[in-house]
Amino acid sequence: MGYKVVVVGATGNVGREMLNILEERAFPVDEIAALASRRSLGTEVSFGDKTLKTQDLDAFDFTGWDIALFAIGSDATKKYAPVAAKAGCIVIDNSSLYRYDPDVPLVVPEVNPEAVEGYSKKNIIANPNCSTAQMVVALKPLHDRAKIKRVVVSTYQSVSGSGKDGMDELWDQTKAVYNPTDEVAPKVYPKQIAFNVIPHIDVFLEDGSTKEEWKMVAETKKIVDSSIKVTATCVRVPVFVGHAEAINIETEEFLDEDEARDILREAPGIMVVDKREDGGYVTPVECVGDFATFISRIRQDSTIENGLNFWCVSDNLRKGAALNAVQIAETLGNRVLKKG
Ligand SMILES: NC(=O)c1ccc[n+]([C@@H]2O[C@H](COP(=O)([O-])OP(=O)(O)OC[C@H]3O[C@@H](n4cnc5c(N)ncnc54)[C@H](OP(=O)(O)O)[C@@H]3O)[C@@H](O)[C@H]2O)c1
Repeated sequence: MGYKVVVVGATGNVGREMLNILEERAFPVDEIAALASRRSLGTEVSFGDKTLKTQDLDAFDFTGWDIALFAIGSDATKKYAPVAAKAGCIVIDNSSLYRYDPDVPLVVPEVNPEAVEGYSKKNIIANPNCSTAQMVVALKPLHDRAKIKRVVVSTYQSVSGSGKDGMDELWDQTKAVYNPTDEVAPKVYPKQIAFNVIPHIDVFLEDGSTKEEWKMVAETKKIVDSSIKVTATCVRVPVFVGHAEAINIETEEFLDEDEARDILREAPGIMVVDKREDGGYVTPVECVGDFATFISRIRQDSTIENGLNFWCVSDNLRKGAALNAVQIAETLGNRVLKKG
């Protein structure tokens, strides 16, 4: 016996990827429903070799459904997630709405799988921000060995992190650069994204950081350890899919770069590709469609006593969103629901 699963936001970047991943990982699905806004009523989406017709979220009755994977913005989530949860359907949410709620677990299954058990207070489990998800998969095994005190991270985030509209804007502006009569003014982003980089994701906060940067700080503390200090600079780059991060960590105990490499090689969800030669590292275009978080360029930071640098790349629509959500559903199934 399997589960009755709802994918909410099935016409979006993350929703489509959720349908792919449920099928690829052979999640035990007895019945599946694909939902989006009324605008998309009847739009066809793929689930393995089946085609599903998208239904209207507003008219959907969640009663009798086991798990709903939500991938719509925070505003729509605020309206519909409580409706699903109240009907007895467990919500796994990709928006930022519930991530910092003390009654909602924030889960990355390689890091804090036991946290899923706290789902029952609201019948909701939150999925972290895409940049946090891939980073904490790498931090956790290093933290367990040498206790991380401080993290300095700079991100290089692809436009698919802003949904379908972000991808369209990069595509249209890129074409327009070669055909200036088609000039495309920035709409999704505050400045031109084609052939450019923008050090600004989400809104500015009072201290001069952005909300995206704050999310990496708050979520790392909630998922890994509240004592870890994180400072982040989040940058949007003209890449369609795949986020990259340059990460520097300072640890309490000394950790040699070779031992760090071995620890990461053994860690769940991680693939180490670290040859000190031309091309001996992974870049965003190579990680697309993969489940792993790739780690390269592991090296000592000799400017501090116990420091390491490394490069971290992952498919933001997968580990950063859809894969992590499906892994949460798997963890919930194995630890709590035990149906599959
Ligand atoms: N992309 C990432 O890397 C990433 C990572 C982590 C978390 N997330 C989060 O995941 C969510 C979805 O992101 P995305 O990249 O998939 O966005 P997207 O490509 O723009 O897709 C948005 C989806 O939400 C649906 N939707 C929007 N408003 C709705 C409403 N009022 N009622 C019903 N459905 C509605 C859309 O349906 P229609 O097609 O009918 O409009 C579409 O299916 C967002 O909360 C985002 O912050 C994204």
